[in-house]
Amino acid sequence: MSRAVADTFQETLVRELGADVVQRDLALDPLPADAWTHTAATRGLPVEERSPEQQAAYDLATTLADELVAADALVIAVPLYNFGVSQHLKTWFDLIIADPRFAPGQQPIAGRPATLVVARGGGYGEDTPRAGWDHATPYYERILSDVWGLDLTVIEAELTLAHVTPAMAELRELADQVQNRAHDDARSRARQIGESLRRAA
Ligand SMILES: Cc1cc2nc3c(=O)[nH]c(=O)nc-3n(C[C@H](O)[C@H](O)[C@H](O)COP(=O)(O)O)c2cc1C
Repeated sequence: MSRAVADTFQETLVRELGADVVQRDLALDPLPADAWTHTAATRGLPVEERSPEQQAAYDLATTLADELVAADALVIAVPLYNFGVSQHLKTWFDLIIADPRFAPGQQPIAGRPATLVVARGGGYGEDTPRAGWDHATPYYERILSDVWGLDLTVIEAELTLAHVTPAMAELRELADQVQNRAHDDARSRARQIGESLRRAA
């Protein structure tokens, strides 16, 4: 579902703006879990003293930061798994923050538009039993909005398990509404970004 809503965003933006898209699929092509340790070990270490693993991790962090710095707009699609952050996305954040351009206090992409699409099987509204159990979205907001200074919009596609979970049968209509709204929000966010990028061009 997160991918489908992000696809709606991307298709709209490409239609509006003819935008070039760079995709990085962290689920199909995961970042190595030990890359952060290796790149962190290169800090202050002359190039000739780095191990091949350390240099490869450093180069990977540089590539990820290059991709991000080159982007006029960012969309991230991520599911909620076990109430916490995606390990893949966490590794992506960690590696980018290891790049000197993103060192604490640096905001090389501040003010750019970012859109976070979060898919959740259940419901986490304020008046539900699971309110406050999504420990991932606040973390993503902290990094994207507060640490990197991006102009962030969060689109939430909830109740995605309603149609395959008998106990959620009575929530199916609501689930359809919530998910249709997520696609509508993705379309209008993409149009808004398209317009402002076109004006700035
Ligand atoms: C291992 C695993 C853990 C999950 N944990 C949660 C969870 O903590 N809360 C929740 O609402 N949904 C949970 N789900 C459901 C997914 O968030 C939901 O199916 C979501 O739509 C998946 O994203 P996608 O549709 O983009 O693939 C979990 C699914 C899996 C496979």
